[in-house]
Amino acid sequence: MRLRKKPWARPELEACSFVVTNPSQHKGKWKDFFNNDNDIYLELGCGRGKFIAENAVKNKDKNFIGIDIKDEVLVYAKRRVEEVFKENNKEIDNVALIPMEIAFIENVFDKDEVSRIYLNFSTPWPKKRHNKRRLTYVTFLERYKKFLKKESEIWFKTDQEDFFNDSIEYFKEAGFEIKYLTYDLHSSDFKENIMTEYETKFSLMGMKIMFLIAKLK
Ligand SMILES: C[S@@+](CC[C@H](N)C(=O)[O-])C[C@H]1O[C@@H](n2cnc3c(N)ncnc32)[C@H](O)[C@@H]1O
Repeated sequence: MRLRKKPWARPELEACSFVVTNPSQHKGKWKDFFNNDNDIYLELGCGRGKFIAENAVKNKDKNFIGIDIKDEVLVYAKRRVEEVFKENNKEIDNVALIPMEIAFIENVFDKDEVSRIYLNFSTPWPKKRHNKRRLTYVTFLERYKKFLKKESEIWFKTDQEDFFNDSIEYFKEAGFEIKYLTYDLHSSDFKENIMTEYETKFSLMGMKIMFLIAKLK
């Protein structure tokens, strides 16, 4: 996602009550941040926030945390959350957005703190020498396991078949069981899908969307 530098993005994020710029201070204490004991669902690489905004407004009994490295993108997620909650006359009390690099995620969540991870159209890193940067790569899955509850799920969507097939192997290698899998999500029997920005763009181009749910054993 190439965007021109936006000098106003960081101040706008810092002024927002549900943007967390010191996330490691909440490690092990996210339930205090949300003021409840509800499940925490993470979206890694949340981009412009359509998915997290619609998911969070529909599921007020869950807490949602979206992470993205780019302030210039996350600022639109912040605005999207504000818009969607306003349209639905709901208070924003179950969302947090974090501007950070996902490689440092272990500093932010403690054992058993997270119940689900969404990976939507993560960067596919197709070159062999870059595969280890994939957010589904075994080393990333091992990081996530340090804070995922037993029997947690990772929901993964992509339009890239090699990335999808390789990821199935990464999940198995890291001790996840593939509970649901489709090579064509939009023609499948899976009905709870929420479209992301990339998904909308790719499906309009006629591309098939692959989706799986991997469950931690
Ligand atoms: C291809 S976009 C997909 C955005 C959104 N999930 C969607 O489906 O429309 C990938 C997003 O992940 C973010 N991202 C990629 N690698 C990341 C990393 N290592 N740490 C934090 N964010 C990352 C990018 O900044 C970008 O916004």
